[in-house]
Amino acid sequence: MPRVVVAGSFNVDHVWHCTALPRPGETLAGEYATGPGGKGFNQAVAAASAGAATTFICALGDDDGGRLARRLATAHGIDLRAQDSEAATGTAGIYVDDGGGNSIVIGPGANAALSPDFVAAQGEAIAAARVVLAQLESPVDAIVEALRRARAHGARTVLNPAPANAPCTRELLAVADVLTPNETEFAGLLARHCGGGTEPGSLARMDEEHLHRLCRTLLPRGTVVLTLGAAGCFVSHREDSLHGDESPHYRCPAAEAKVVDTTGAGDAFNGALAASLAMAPAHPFASHVRFATRYAAMSTERPGAADSMPGAGEFAARYPAD
Ligand code: RIB
Repeated sequence: MPRVVVAGSFNVDHVWHCTALPRPGETLAGEYATGPGGKGFNQAVAAASAGAATTFICALGDDDGGRLARRLATAHGIDLRAQDSEAATGTAGIYVDDGGGNSIVIGPGANAALSPDFVAAQGEAIAAARVVLAQLESPVDAIVEALRRARAHGARTVLNPAPANAPCTRELLAVADVLTPNETEFAGLLARHCGGGTEPGSLARMDEEHLHRLCRTLLPRGTVVLTLGAAGCFVSHREDSLHGDESPHYRCPAAEAKVVDTTGAGDAFNGALAASLAMAPAHPFASHVRFATRYAAMSTERPGAADSMPGAGEFAARYPAD
């Protein structure tokens, strides 16, 4: 069975649903819920739920959060490779408003302990992968190790450079075959690596040729999938490497959804994209992006992060032709 390896974070999410996000100095009452999260775990659950055999490499504390991660990994059929840490398992405080938007603060805890050595020790799992996916709530050197090893074994690497304030270095960009920033992350990467001053809010409306040139400057050798929220996403390939597509750049519209909570929607997109790339590598890239877009839209229709990932059966019922 085609395998996806996800390297990244696990958090226990503490979530408050309020009518509006709190402003500085404001105290609000909201409805509280807790559940599994962390960009890495959300992506691993999405990849597994979308149908790919999935390994998840992370670091966990010896506490209730760590035990929750282990129990849920088993329940989802995920092969968990967890580095033991003396720090507490990662946490996130999340406010979700009536429109499904959110604000998040993370406490990295054990996630900050994930080491390149531990990742290297998972070499045989990485060698068996078709796709290796990572984000940046874990130390950069550990993520570089995962993506470098993946490349050395001929796996495709997908880097989700989230969150926006994480240090996404040139070294990391150099080991990404596919880069999946959102608007804020893309603008930040341009400012950091290309000296550009682009407004995140202007990207969805930007002329396609211009956007393509910006993507080519940022990642000359790979593919950029820029996610644009309600405006869908924009794909930019290297001109001589179209991965089965007809054009080096195009837009993919967002899918319809009755949005309840967008927390983890980006993770749903990344996990589903990785799963689709692993399961049908010969299919045009655009078909993987369409699958990920639809999968992510479905994830926004229920609350929570990892708990909101649709199963393959539910997806097939909604999109029988996919
Ligand atoms: O992307 C959503 C995730 O970001 C949440 O689950 C939270 O844990 C933070 O990592």
